[in-house]
Amino acid sequence: MNEKEVNHLSNQLKRVYSANKTSERPFNLFFTNLQEDGLINRTCCAKVDGFRSYIINFKENPVTELFDSKDLVYLSPDAENTLQNLDPKKVYVIGGLVDDSVKSQVSLNLCQSLNLQCYKLPIDEFMERGETGTYKQILTINQIFEILLKFYETADWKQALAAGVPPRTGFIIKQ
Ligand SMILES: C[S@@+](CC[C@H](N)C(=O)[O-])C[C@H]1O[C@@H](n2cnc3c(N)ncnc32)[C@H](O)[C@@H]1O
Repeated sequence: MNEKEVNHLSNQLKRVYSANKTSERPFNLFFTNLQEDGLINRTCCAKVDGFRSYIINFKENPVTELFDSKDLVYLSPDAENTLQNLDPKKVYVIGGLVDDSVKSQVSLNLCQSLNLQCYKLPIDEFMERGETGTYKQILTINQIFEILLKFYETADWKQALAAGVPPRTGFIIKQ
């Protein structure tokens, strides 16, 4: 990850924390694979006020060492399966990737190599193409997180996707 991407990542992690903090039904949030002396942690500490005082779980270990792999649900825009619901017993994983330089199927490949369950958001089920847009379903970390939070609060994918999928994608809720 280059410096610009790490800056974007730190900004997205800040948004994730702040959305969780103000949510009516917050998640038990983990930032994993975050080495104390690594570039990502150092950048977040430099750019994000109070980063290491966030009331979340900071872990140096990868998620696969922290949880049983049968409980892990990895999210990927390239997954074949579509997420229908959120199970409070499962651990949902968003990849710490920013697509400034587009690398396709990174999450999916990782998932397959680790033999983890992999799901995409139900954008095709609940949204359709409006008049113009990028029609890209690859969203940022904080957008995915905010959609999951809204769904966790409302149990309504239409409401969650309408709030979190950016208008520039051109997707609109199906009537
Ligand atoms: C900017 S995306 C990274 C895209 C990257 N090309 C990849 O291979 O996943 C950051 C993370 O958000 C999640 N994500 C983005 N769009 C998604 C979608 N439509 N459905 C499920 N997860 C998504 C994935 O966990 C992904 O690792």
